[in-house]
Amino acid sequence: MEVLKDQLDHEEHETEVYARKVRETKHSVVKLLYAKLMRDSMQHAEVLNSAIAYLITNQWGTPQASVNETHDELLRLMDMEEKALRLFTSLSAEVGDPHLKSLLAMLALDEEQHYAMLRYVLENFVDKKEVAKA
Ligand SMILES: [Fe+2]
Repeated sequence: MEVLKDQLDHEEHETEVYARKVRETKHSVVKLLYAKLMRDSMQHAEVLNSAIAYLITNQWGTPQASVNETHDELLRLMDMEEKALRLFTSLSAEVGDPHLKSLLAMLALDEEQHYAMLRYVLENFVDKKEVAKA
């Protein structure tokens, strides 16, 4: 628990540091990367906050909170992410400019993660809920 709280402090500090760097940096590529790091740190802090609350209360969110999406809707979202993943992967392979290549490769990695997150939601919160209702 303490280690999570310490890391939460670090993530909140990082968020402030990257927010300042976004404001101060003129280089467009580096500015984009700092912005991404700022958002990721912010999101990591939110995840850690949820994890800490879970360890204290032994539950995720309120008991009545439910997931509204259907199995098919999740499959459609996963399909969008997969298409984006394929697009960025092939564009990254095609372009010659090294910076653009790296940025596109990073987007492809993000899309791969988005796909994995949706699969996690589908398997753990949507399909299980549909089984529970049946
Ligand atoms: Fe995505």
